[in-house]
Amino acid sequence: MTDSSSEKRPQTINVPRFAAAKGQRKLSMVTAYDYLWAGIYDEAGVDSILVGDSLGMVVQGHKTTLPVTLEQMIYHGEMVARAVKRALVIVDLPFMTYQVSPAQGVENAGRILKETGAAAVKLEGGVHQAATIRALAEADIPVMAHVGMRPQSVNKFGAMSKVQRDEELLLADAKAAEAAGAFGIVLELIPRSIAGKITAEISIPTIGIGAGPECDGQVLVSCDMLGLSGFQPRFLKKYADLRSTVITATRDYVREVSDGTFPDAAHSHE
Ligand code: KIV
Repeated sequence: MTDSSSEKRPQTINVPRFAAAKGQRKLSMVTAYDYLWAGIYDEAGVDSILVGDSLGMVVQGHKTTLPVTLEQMIYHGEMVARAVKRALVIVDLPFMTYQVSPAQGVENAGRILKETGAAAVKLEGGVHQAATIRALAEADIPVMAHVGMRPQSVNKFGAMSKVQRDEELLLADAKAAEAAGAFGIVLELIPRSIAGKITAEISIPTIGIGAGPECDGQVLVSCDMLGLSGFQPRFLKKYADLRSTVITATRDYVREVSDGTFPDAAHSHE
C-alpha cells in the first residue's frame, strides 16, 4: 500500500541533498536543544537543525561553551533528533572531545551518531583539524567544519565577539576543511567580502553567522532569533520578541491566580 500523502510532503534533507543545494537555493539552519522546540522549527520548514554547544551558554548559563560535555550533547541531540521529521540534524562535538587526536574525534562522533540519531557532526577548525575531518569522512561520519570566530577557542581569541579578518588564514581553513572531506562549513563573524570569496572558491555550502549575505545559507541561535535572550550583536535579526510575550503572559497568569479570576467556570469540571 502506498501513502499518497507522502508525495505532497517536502523531501527530507539528508547530507547529499544539503550539499547539493549549493548554488541552487539558500539553506536555513537554526539551533535547537530539545524535543519541543526542534519539532516547531522542523514544522516551520527549516533545512537543518544544529544541536549547538551554544547550549552551554543559552541553556546552562555558562559564560562560554567550554564546560559542555559529550554526554550532554548526546542527551540534547537525542531529544532533538526524535522530534525532527524533515530537517538535517547536526550535533556539535564539544570542546576536548576531538582535539586530542583523530581517533578521539571518530570515537566520540560515532557515539553521537549511534546514540542520538543525528546525521552529522560539527567541529571547530580548518587547517588544524584537517586530519580529524579526514578521519571522520573516511569513517562515513558526515562532518561540518566551523571557521572564523570559533567559540571553543575563546581563550586564544580573547573574546567571543571578535570579527576575524585574516583573509589568507580564513581561506586556508575553509579549503583545508573542504579538501579533508567536510560536507559544509559554518563561517562565523567574518567580513562579508571574505565570506563571499570563500563561498565562490569552495564547492561545499557555507553557512554564515555574522558573515553576510554571500554565504550559501545562514544559521542563528534560536533563542536569539526569537528574542528570548538579551543578546543583540550587529548581525542578529530578531524575528519575534518572545521574551516580552512570555513575561506578559506569565504576569497575567500570576495576577489571575492571585486575584482568583483563574480558574473560572469555563476551566473547571462540574
Ligand atoms: O553552537 C552553536 O550554536 C554554533 C552556531 C552559532 C553556529 O556553533
